[in-house]
Amino acid sequence: MPITLRQATHGDLPEMKELYVGTITTVCTNDYTPEQVAIWASSAQKAQRWIDLIDHQLVLIAQKDNNIVGFCSLDKNVYIDFMYVHKDYQHQGIAKTLLLAIEDKARNTGTSTITSDISKTARPFFERKGYKVIKEQINIRQGIEIINYKMSKDINPE
Ligand SMILES: CC(C)(COP(=O)(O)OP(=O)(O)OC[C@H]1O[C@@H](n2cnc3c(N)ncnc32)[C@H](O)[C@@H]1OP(=O)(O)O)[C@@H](O)C(=O)NCCC(=O)NCCS
Repeated sequence: MPITLRQATHGDLPEMKELYVGTITTVCTNDYTPEQVAIWASSAQKAQRWIDLIDHQLVLIAQKDNNIVGFCSLDKNVYIDFMYVHKDYQHQGIAKTLLLAIEDKARNTGTSTITSDISKTARPFFERKGYKVIKEQINIRQGIEIINYKMSKDINPE
């Protein structure tokens, strides 16, 4: 079955959160310590944050065989907030499909530069897709340092 893209609804949130936790606690463990992974994954419990995500961002779901296999979000047409692919569906071109779609949406609103805060795990993927590191960031969450990168891409090069 091919991958289809659609907009997320509130009803997708339980499956999206399960995917989010599943991916962070497996795919990201080469790049972050168990403590960092636990703090990161615990964001799935911030109920209002997820409701706001659906209500205020463009959230695209990649679906295959009736399962959610990835999702990404675009905030205010300029910022990629989420990009997660299911742990069992890595390296199948799902993130690439989502990214192309979300960049198109941004471009169509006149956006010329997209930014994001990218994990160590996702950095090579985004670099491959033309994003450049602006700076390394040390975030303190629950007293623990978690490193990520501010990255950006000009999506409307002259
Ligand atoms: C990063 C992530 C979204 C990539 O998803 P994916 O569906 O496996 O990526 P794709 O299969 O679409 O890969 C697209 C391209 O990126 C490359 N790529 C993907 N992951 C890569 C990696 N870890 N290192 C190097 N290249 C990578 C692929 O080789 C492919 O290249 P191509 O287009 O030239 O063939 C996924 O690994 C993930 O969910 N990571 C954990 C969650 C995360 O950290 N999200 C970001 C939060 S800021």
